[in-house]
Amino acid sequence: MLVSATEMLKKARDGHYAVGQFNINNLEWTKAVLFTAQEMNSPVILGVSEGAGKYMTGYKTVAAMVKAMVETLNITVPVALHLDHGSYEGAKACLEAGFSSIMFDGSHYPIDENVAKTTELVKLAHEMGVSVEAEVGSIGGEEDGVVGAGEVADPAECKRIADLGIDFLAAGIGNIHGKYPANWKGLDFDALGKIHEATGGIPLVLHGGTGIPADMIQKAISLGVSKINVNTECQLSFAAATREYIEAGKDQQGKGYDPRKLLAPGFEAIKATVKEKMELFGSVNKA
Ligand code: 13P
Repeated sequence: MLVSATEMLKKARDGHYAVGQFNINNLEWTKAVLFTAQEMNSPVILGVSEGAGKYMTGYKTVAAMVKAMVETLNITVPVALHLDHGSYEGAKACLEAGFSSIMFDGSHYPIDENVAKTTELVKLAHEMGVSVEAEVGSIGGEEDGVVGAGEVADPAECKRIADLGIDFLAAGIGNIHGKYPANWKGLDFDALGKIHEATGGIPLVLHGGTGIPADMIQKAISLGVSKINVNTECQLSFAAATREYIEAGKDQQGKGYDPRKLLAPGFEAIKATVKEKMELFGSVNKA
């Protein structure tokens, strides 16, 4: 059974750790994240971007696959299936498809429009027991064609959105999707502290978890971050392990071309990355 992310993130906030959101792209990804969460006895959030949803042939396919896998693999740790950076239409489609959590990213709208759309989606989602993440101040970098300028969120706007009854809030604090450039200035902890204070303890979400140094992760958690999103890092470790397999010519030995063999090193690499992040975020044995 899937659960909303509300309870697991309140527990994380109170227990001073963070729950990882790991984005999924296909069956191998989903299986790797679920197995690792169970092995680590950690709560977990499976993130699905609109692009990944489309790639997997739609939100209904994704919800059916994830629900069946949780049941068949006897996954007993809390699992939330969450729309990542959803549009207004995408959020509604995920509610219909059976997701247990949605993000509405209205950060590119003027604040009044972000407020109006977030308010409507909170009402619809909460009627169905689904949790809602909203965003203020866009995240830098590019993700599925959505390009953010990496601005830092305004604490007053964060308070306005947090007060709409959302369950957790993503606020830009200089974080970026994808790899961080060599001249990255780091997270803006001054801004994070002010946002944390202004929003009265609502669990905060840190996007762009790939490549943030461990000490910054820990400081962010101490300032109210309860959910950390990781996508690119699993893609990089999957790609590196697959490359190594092919470069070693293993796909040409015996039945090494069988996808169940060809994709196995990448699968193990995703598991290793997820395990490392769960240890860093402190969610191990918090199921
Ligand atoms: P990364 O791809 O940088 O890990 O960011 C993931 C993310 O924030 C998904 O919303």
